[in-house]
Amino acid sequence: MHGLVLREFQKYYIKKFGLFDWMKFTREEREIPSHFEITMNYNDNMFFYILQRAILRQQLDKKKMLVDFGKFMVPFLLKVYQPKEDWNLLDLLENTEEEIHHTVRMRNKEAHPPRLRVVRWGPEEVEIRYSSSRKLLFLGLGIIQGLIDHYKEDLKIQVRKLAPENYSIRVTHRSSVQK
Ligand code: HEM
Repeated sequence: MHGLVLREFQKYYIKKFGLFDWMKFTREEREIPSHFEITMNYNDNMFFYILQRAILRQQLDKKKMLVDFGKFMVPFLLKVYQPKEDWNLLDLLENTEEEIHHTVRMRNKEAHPPRLRVVRWGPEEVEIRYSSSRKLLFLGLGIIQGLIDHYKEDLKIQVRKLAPENYSIRVTHRSSVQK
């Protein structure tokens, strides 16, 4: 996993539970480094281990925490991978795979962001199909929610399970959602 994600998790943990607890956590869990480099890649197992130990330590709900963490990461993601200025949020979502995740892969050969399948159904709607062996749907939903908060657009997210670990995420302007 990209060092950016682990570094953001460190920042997220410190913001929620304090630097003192992070230091204690990483002292007690010897496999967990106290600092991560965003230019590096870390083993996925390391990322999942940190999540699992943090969840146990702080008695967190995994899904809620992943959504919250996804939202937290958005400002930094937007700083590092700047979307085009004339894009609205649906344009950004439409281009996440071909432009943004593609750039992530180009800049960091060891990064493997999920291969999203995206369809722009019209000016008011984008559908993202998410399937990844990492099973981080809720992180993706958090990223989308964080983007909605950032762009301050009135968009609604609807998730449908298509098959095991294969989801359709529809993001639609509220004004066009059928009642
Ligand atoms: C500005 C937009 C975005 C940026 C800059 C961005 C960037 C990244 C980066 C750097 C990673 C780490 C990749 C790795 O370590 O292999 C990642 C992973 C991920 N991205 Fe994105 N992303 C964006 C938008 C989205 C959106 C809209 C989704 C919605 C589904 C999404 C879903 C995910 C998920 C779930 C992961 C975790 C890895 C996995 O599931 O395999 N991202 N992204």
